This record gives sequence, C-alpha cells and structure tokens, in this order.
Amino acid sequence: MPTKKKNGTPHLRLGVNIDHVATIRNARGGRHPDPLRAAHLAVAAGADGITAHLREDRRHISDEDITRLKQELTRPLNLEMAATDEMLAIATRHIPNACCLVPERREERTTEGGLDVNGGGERLRRIIAELKAAGIRVSLFVEPDPAVIEASAAAEADIVELHTGRYCDLALAGDAIGVAREVGRIAKAATLAHSAGLEVHAGHGLTYNTVTAVARMPEMAELNIGHFLVGEAIFGGLNQSVAHMRRLMDEARAVVGRHETAGRAASAPADANRTPARTGAARQHSKTP
Ligand code: PXP
Repeated sequence: MPTKKKNGTPHLRLGVNIDHVATIRNARGGRHPDPLRAAHLAVAAGADGITAHLREDRRHISDEDITRLKQELTRPLNLEMAATDEMLAIATRHIPNACCLVPERREERTTEGGLDVNGGGERLRRIIAELKAAGIRVSLFVEPDPAVIEASAAAEADIVELHTGRYCDLALAGDAIGVAREVGRIAKAATLAHSAGLEVHAGHGLTYNTVTAVARMPEMAELNIGHFLVGEAIFGGLNQSVAHMRRLMDEARAVVGRHETAGRAASAPADANRTPARTGAARQHSKTP
C-alpha cells in the first residue's frame, strides 16, 4: 500500500523517467541537456524518485549517466534494465534503490508489452535473487494479467509495475469502451498483486488525461512517467528559453549600437572633408568588433 503522509493522505510516489532528456542530448552527441540537471529539477518540483532505463544499445541513458545519478541524486534511483548478466553486473556495482526488469528488443522504439515472467524461467529467477541479495528491490514490468501477477509473486519479486501502455493508447484513440475495459483490468491486477504481497506500481504512456484513473486505485504506490513530461516541458519552458535568448541578443545589439553611435560621432569632423568612397570604408570598419 502507499505510504501515508503526515495528514493521513496516502502518498502516491512519482518517479520521473529522464530517458528522453538523454535522447535530446544524444541527438547532438554533447552534454546538453544534462539528464542529471533534469533529475535535480524534477526532485525540486516534487518527484519522489528518478527512473532511468539503461538500454543494451545505450540509445539514451549512458553508463556515465547512471554513475552520476547514483553519486549525486538525493532521491531513490529506479534502474530499468533487461534481465541480462551485463545489466546485473552494472546494477550490483551501483546498487540503485530498485531495478525494474523490462523486456527489451533492439528494434522496438519503446518497451512494448510486459515481461514474460514464466518464459524467463530459471535465469530470471536467478537474476531476481542476485539483485535482492545485493540489497536492491526488484520490480517486474508486467501486463495487468492475473497469470503474470501470480508468476511474479512466485518468482519472489518485491514489486510489479503494471503496463499502462494499452490503456493510454486506447485513450488517445478515443475508445471509451476499450479504456473502461483496460482500467478495469489494471484495477483488478493491482488488487491481486497487493493481496499477493507485491508492491504495486504502474507506468508507460501516462499523461495529464490518463493519470487520474490509475492514481485513484488504492493499491497503487508509485507511478513512473517520462515521455509525456519531457515533451510537455517544451511547451512549459520554450517560452522562457526563447525569451532569455531574445534578451541576450538584444543586450548584445544594444552594445553594438552604442559603439556605432560613438564611432560615428568621433569620426564625423574628419568625414566631412573626405571623399564618399573613404566615408563608406570608415563606416564598415566601425562595425568590426
Ligand atoms: N515504466 C517502464 C517500465 C518503462 O519502460 C517506461 C518507458 O521507459 C516507463 C515506465 C515510462 O513510460 P513513458 O516514458 O511513456 O512515461
């Protein structure tokens, strides 16, 4: 169940996923925008934790990002990763607060579908056991399906994160019947998971329009949200960055204007006795910094 705030209200934790800050950074290969700076901003704005997915192809978050997040973050880090030995070694080196095991295919654009917990067999159980032995809480990203919830409890995960992608896709498509069906499925899965002793999280595709139905489910302890928040930040922040750039440019031009005026005043008496050709050259020169 969610932890209670001092006033008795059950607190639903918000994990902000910063993967797509790294996506924008990587588009240019430099250091801007820095996902760690975004993580600090998210925490200052009310995030309870930060989520980052270190993909096998490193398409957004890098190994260095994980090192820096772990060193500098003041809130828990939830590391999303595939259930592989490479990722297990990274996780046990950094000891994030939690690891969320997700299915991963190189050709997918984002995590499609939940983890095949039964299909993961002995290897998945071993990875869960090793993460737990290292003191890391283990979450499985799963479809809201009773059989998968039961398999997650049997595999001794601490947490299930219920995949809300289908629900959010149906909401975007305006399919009210489909939305009602999916919300019902997620709610039932949350109840089942909670009664099986699992902590319940949810995420994928959540937006301002779709968060409320999930946030109202009493068993829900944490929501992980990324893509929408980073996208929405453009609309909440582009006005500020453009206005700041405008101000810097205007300030720079004001100085150019002052130099030009001063230059013209200084050269005015001499210009009066010169040929038009020389006057033009002098004017051009005064514009050179
Ligand atoms: N939870 C998991 C397990 C995910 O893989 C993702 C996407 O990286 C999210 C939550 C966040 O989804 P979104 O970026 O669509 O909010």
